[in-house]
Amino acid sequence: MRKMRTQRAIAVLASVLLIGGVAACGNSDTGGGGSKDDGKITMGFSQVGAESGWRTANTTSIKESAAAAGIELKFDDAQQKQENQIKAIRNYIQQKVDVIAFSPVVESGWDTVLKEAKDAGIPVILTDRSVDSADKSLYKTFLGSDFVKEGKLAGEWLVEQKKGATGPVNIVELQGNTGAAPANDRKKGFGEAIAANPNLKIIASQPGDFTRAGGKQVMEQFLKANPKIDVLFAHNDDMGLGALEAITAAGKVPGKDITIITVDAVKDGMQALADGKFNFIAECSPLLGPQLMDLAKKVKAGETVPARIETEETTFTQEQAKEALPNRKY
Ligand code: AHR
Repeated sequence: MRKMRTQRAIAVLASVLLIGGVAACGNSDTGGGGSKDDGKITMGFSQVGAESGWRTANTTSIKESAAAAGIELKFDDAQQKQENQIKAIRNYIQQKVDVIAFSPVVESGWDTVLKEAKDAGIPVILTDRSVDSADKSLYKTFLGSDFVKEGKLAGEWLVEQKKGATGPVNIVELQGNTGAAPANDRKKGFGEAIAANPNLKIIASQPGDFTRAGGKQVMEQFLKANPKIDVLFAHNDDMGLGALEAITAAGKVPGKDITIITVDAVKDGMQALADGKFNFIAECSPLLGPQLMDLAKKVKAGETVPARIETEETTFTQEQAKEALPNRKY
């Protein structure tokens, strides 16, 4: 009798251990993320907002590519606020998604939440914009543009155009939102390039938050405060498009009285370039969705991915914009 009781006790203990073991296996299959390893991928994506034509095209690319790749997408629009992005990322951690991807509205202040994702075993992919975290193990990879190069290409074009200038060339700059990687980097690249010609001087530089309204409002202030503006460098098309209204209202001819250089090359920007209102655009591609979904699959499968993947981009003059416009996708 005692022997039978002992055998039953051993059997109960064995099944408890077995169930415990299976549960533990279930967790480890998720890489610590906690979701079922049923072959399906759930991605939590925190988008910056809907501030520009570029952003709208980027959101469309991400949503369409997720659907095409069979990835379940949880999408959140942070309305240009870092606290909203942090909240969304924490929600994704709680929901135990397989991968978190986001485009950080600003470069700094991400270490804590990125560490929370890492501790939960959820890989993070940075897309479009990067962070300034010293600990690179907090994210798997960065997919996006070389913003310094975009600013540099814009500046180099201007240096070439103004090489015969004998007096000062007054430049005003419309920056993206303060602290954003494209604002910091485009400013840097442009500044470095125009240093080649001491006649080229930035006389005013203010954030216009990457929006048309911001571009218009800040350009109005620039025009009031500065009687001689020769060049506008806008960190994106939308701010340049907003500035067009202010320039026209001030009785000046955009593209002639004021040379206008922007970044992005979205359809509306390309149209302004083809119409002679803009003079030059450095391209920044928003079509990051397909590569992002590919990376998510690789990261989920535990494959090693490159630390940084840069998008191939070009530049457009007015003539090139006329040619490219009919086939422009965004
Ligand atoms: O991060 C990319 C930038 O953000 C684009 O140049 C701009 O249009 C957008 O708002």
